[in-house]
Amino acid sequence: MDDNSEFLVFGATGQQGGAVARALKAKGRTVRAFVRNPDSAKAMALAGEGISLAKGDLFDTDSIDRAMAGIDGVFSVQTSSPGGEVSDQQEVDQGKAIADSALRHGVRHLVYSSGGGAGKGPTGMGHFDSKSEIEAYVQGLPMATTITRPASFMEMMMLPGMGLPEGEFTFFMRPDQLMQMIAVNDLGRINAEILMAPDRFSGRAIELSSASVTGEDLARAFTKAAGRPITYRRFSDELLDSNPFLKRLAELVDDGLLAGVADIPALEREFGALTSLDAWLAADGKSLFEAALNAGKADVALR
Ligand SMILES: NC(=O)c1ccc[n+]([C@@H]2O[C@H](COP(=O)([O-])OP(=O)(O)OC[C@H]3O[C@@H](n4cnc5c(N)ncnc54)[C@H](OP(=O)(O)O)[C@@H]3O)[C@@H](O)[C@H]2O)c1
Repeated sequence: MDDNSEFLVFGATGQQGGAVARALKAKGRTVRAFVRNPDSAKAMALAGEGISLAKGDLFDTDSIDRAMAGIDGVFSVQTSSPGGEVSDQQEVDQGKAIADSALRHGVRHLVYSSGGGAGKGPTGMGHFDSKSEIEAYVQGLPMATTITRPASFMEMMMLPGMGLPEGEFTFFMRPDQLMQMIAVNDLGRINAEILMAPDRFSGRAIELSSASVTGEDLARAFTKAAGRPITYRRFSDELLDSNPFLKRLAELVDDGLLAGVADIPALEREFGALTSLDAWLAADGKSLFEAALNAGKADVALR
């Protein structure tokens, strides 16, 4: 992909797309962000960084086509059913609509951001199986495509209700069980590298993770970052029994699927050093961690 290539990034006002758009921009590339509301603070922040805005909606195919004109590389990501805004079928429809539009417009390279739970057979989780369906569709198109499968985001641990303010963090893995995670900025940088080098990456499905950590690792790292003791335990059996969604996710961690299968040393050879949990807590994740640590004690919904 030459220096004059232009990239279209979906979800650019969100976590993944925002990180990808900024990583491409940092590499001096021309970036167009597909946004629903160009007047939103996040869209205006992108524009202020020199990223052009294409107004559209993933439910509106014509708006996708308008944004696609003249584009060389596309980063495709959709929201999923746990967010409450789309059904699993709508996620599939949106993923296919972007791919169809990219093909119609002769885009040189489409990178589809899937998830670590996808591409390995049915899981019984709609928002993983939807991604497997989009992956298969994308891979069947007569164009250069790459699938990236991010592990769980480090940022996700900072959602309310995980127990940080009470000094007892709870999450999916058992205390001595490894689980892979990715820092969203690593995800942005790696996808940008992949977008810029279709000849090197197209045809591949790449599992993405920054670090592999146990619950005990979380306790140690959070204790150090907080300057006071933070213990770790897995989500309680009572919680998992009362919440089939979390229970299935925990089972998939136990089965290994969501524990992650990325080859982190190979990723570091290909993309450079990745962010350890300690490094994330000291830099990109610092403000999120401090906000989660100091959140009101009312946020204990998941415990
Ligand atoms: N969290 C994890 O640990 C994890 C791990 C692996 C994979 N995933 C997957 O990551 C995906 C979500 O990515 P994310 O966390 O980056 O999302 P996010 O931060 O929630 O952002 C969603 C983005 O999509 C845009 N969007 C939503 N509906 C749209 C529509 N109809 N038309 C145009 N744009 C629309 C939003 O724009 P607005 O600003 O207009 O709302 C926003 O830019 C999900 O599929 C999830 O399953 C998550």
